[in-house]
Amino acid sequence: MQTSKFEIKEITTEQTIAVRHPVLRAGRPREDCYFPGDDLSTTVHFGVFVKNKLAGIATFLEQNNLNFDGEHMQLRGMAVLDQFKGKGYGKQLLKAGEQLAYQKQKQYLWCNARIVAKSFYENQGFKTFGDSFEIPLVGTHFVMYKETTNIPDSC
Ligand SMILES: CC(C)(COP(=O)(O)OP(=O)(O)OC[C@H]1O[C@@H](n2cnc3c(N)ncnc32)[C@H](O)[C@@H]1OP(=O)(O)O)[C@@H](O)C(=O)NCCC(=O)NCCS
Repeated sequence: MQTSKFEIKEITTEQTIAVRHPVLRAGRPREDCYFPGDDLSTTVHFGVFVKNKLAGIATFLEQNNLNFDGEHMQLRGMAVLDQFKGKGYGKQLLKAGEQLAYQKQKQYLWCNARIVAKSFYENQGFKTFGDSFEIPLVGTHFVMYKETTNIPDSC
């Protein structure tokens, strides 16, 4: 896999919509692309830029999962535009979020993973918790989680 030169930067909620809409909410109204907690001061949106173009996004919220002990961060809205998929950018966004969670002293990074992305998360060291469940209009999901560790060269 070849990852071209890229930069990961913090972005605004509004900037995420350019990727959330086509990748995660295709064919649905733009308003459906906003998530609860998007604008909290504790929420961080990361964007990966390739030649100054936003190629992928991920949002990290200070949101505990009641199935686990301790303090956690939730990953939401992980998405890479079609033309940039398979080049390692999703992996880099995850690493940046994992490092952020570690710095915030959160023990776990967790997400509600779409079934199509389950193997992607497994490849990055995430484990599955419990059975699958349905999210209306989006599909089958699994709770997945990873214990955070220091990744100093992530971004
Ligand atoms: C899932 C997604 C974010 C992955 O981003 P990406 O930039 O294409 O992934 P990467 O190129 O960083 O891939 C990293 C590794 O995961 C693998 N991988 C990527 N997508 C995968 C998938 N859907 N299933 C299994 N493995 C996958 C890659 O082959 C690569 O493996 P390697 O490290 O052994 O070479 C992207 O495909 C996407 O936006 N999908 C649609 C939206 C979606 O489902 N988001 C997740 C919501 S929970």
